[in-house]
Amino acid sequence: MNTMTIWYALAALVALFLLRKLQIRLQLSAAKHPSLTGHSRMARRFAALVPYYEYGEDRFFAADGAPEAVVTARRVGFARLESEFKRRFARSAQQTGEVFEGVSDLQFTSRYRVPFQFSRYVRERLKGGNFLQSSAGVTVTDLDGNRFFDLTGSYGVNVFGYDFYKECIARGGERVKELGPVLGAFHPVTAYNVKRLLEVSGLDEVSFHMSGTEAVMQAVRLARYHTRRSHLVRFCGAYHGWWGDVQPGVGNPIAARETYTLKEMDDASLRVLGTRRDIACVLVNPLQALHPNAPAPGDSTLVDSGRSAHFDRAAYTAWLQKLRAVCTQRNIVLIFDEVFVGFRLARGGAQEYFGVRADMVTYGKTVAGGLPVGVLCGRHDLMKRFRPEQPADICFARGTFNAHPYVMGSMYEFFQRLDTEPVASLYRDLEATWNGRARALNERLEAAGLPVRVGNLSTIWTIYYVRPSRYNWMFQYYLRAAGLALSWVGTGRLIFSLNYTEADFAQVADSFLAAARAMDADGWWWTLPELTNKTIRRRVLREMLQARLSASSTSSIGSMSSPRIRAKGALQ
Ligand SMILES: Cc1ncc(COP(=O)(O)O)c(C=O)c1O
Repeated sequence: MNTMTIWYALAALVALFLLRKLQIRLQLSAAKHPSLTGHSRMARRFAALVPYYEYGEDRFFAADGAPEAVVTARRVGFARLESEFKRRFARSAQQTGEVFEGVSDLQFTSRYRVPFQFSRYVRERLKGGNFLQSSAGVTVTDLDGNRFFDLTGSYGVNVFGYDFYKECIARGGERVKELGPVLGAFHPVTAYNVKRLLEVSGLDEVSFHMSGTEAVMQAVRLARYHTRRSHLVRFCGAYHGWWGDVQPGVGNPIAARETYTLKEMDDASLRVLGTRRDIACVLVNPLQALHPNAPAPGDSTLVDSGRSAHFDRAAYTAWLQKLRAVCTQRNIVLIFDEVFVGFRLARGGAQEYFGVRADMVTYGKTVAGGLPVGVLCGRHDLMKRFRPEQPADICFARGTFNAHPYVMGSMYEFFQRLDTEPVASLYRDLEATWNGRARALNERLEAAGLPVRVGNLSTIWTIYYVRPSRYNWMFQYYLRAAGLALSWVGTGRLIFSLNYTEADFAQVADSFLAAARAMDADGWWWTLPELTNKTIRRRVLREMLQARLSASSTSSIGSMSSPRIRAKGALQ
């Protein structure tokens, strides 16, 4: 072989290598969801460009160009709600006002209940307050004595009804009070909890943490440690807590460099899993089955009526099976994040419900009977925090309050009650019951000509809207006035506890309908036939651009409100 031939061979090898790299890179691009949610870095850059501006009073009621008669109806409806809120929620609102400036979380949630253009006007006038006095059955009562059907589900903690958790906490506390808050050593109830967690998960070992976020962190850390690979895969839109690596997009001030965000329910993602060598684990949040590839549906992003939801159990099961197969083939750790859906979809959680086993499973929220917790279950080989053959190479994880005796006591009571007939019966016909309730409500809404629908994954519901509108977020205030308590994400997520009876639900459905009728009568859902979600989005984008240009020409504050726009009161 002469020198030239060797050079040609080397060049061919390099070219092949580069081509392969290019192919793998293109595969990754193909596995990204086309939305901004699928492109974390771009989403963060875009978010930084969005300028603050707000609507003055005129624009607030006519952002969609509604005629005078409709605007008047909206004004009258809003004024009625305002005086009702002032009268009915006075004490709760006052107490909230007293602590507002001192509690960052309150300031954040009150700001992000509705799209920012409308936010100030609403939050200064429709004050519901953030304090509650008591809970009972499926209701909560505020400081003014208003009783609401609870649709917040306490972020998903409340699976069996608040009385169940009050009992777990009280009895659990009794059980461990002699030991009290001694940490490090375990109270004997912990042994029972370990046994039950291993049974439910079908896995070999367990570790206790203080929140779902921490349980997920530990799962990923261990997966990286044992596979000696760097990257985690999460699916577009899925929430896994607020740790940076699982929240690579908006919300995290720095980029997550070792995270791939891929399309869920898409073969292109399977191809990436099948080829890349740097993937340690795949995180699945089965709640996404309700709205694959879309983020948690909060009302602050309800700019139009583009939100939708549809749960297809067979399709999601098939997806999980394919995911399972590729993870097994490639030695990628498959982690089910059941912090939300564990014990809710089925007694054995999402693994039982979908009939697919994971290598690691996280639980949280409900499993400590109402006290704060995170739990990780996994296979022996994945849970070890040390390598016997390399004693200095460990995977460190501790936490002061892990396995706190009171948390363990309450968890013990939780598992004890799980076996009782009243609780077991709540799982009977669970899916059929809640699908039936959602269907019946949708039929009533359709028959009444109302542009609202619900989608559900068992007891987890979301509201969506079937007519283009800029005002869907107003519905949360009508629902509250009708006695239905929602969390700060508004109509995006309703969480029912399993103990809602037919009678309870009938009242919720009637109130829901009454609220929708009132909102319709007040003109918020008026629309022009030519108005589409696309034209709404375009119009809002134009506004943003105008606000951006205006802000930079008047001040150097950048993305904050332009004083000139505020002075004018509205964007024309
Ligand atoms: C699927 C999932 N994972 C993790 C978390 C984080 O749990 P925590 O809020 O207890 O940290 C949540 C919280 O909503 C969740 O829904």
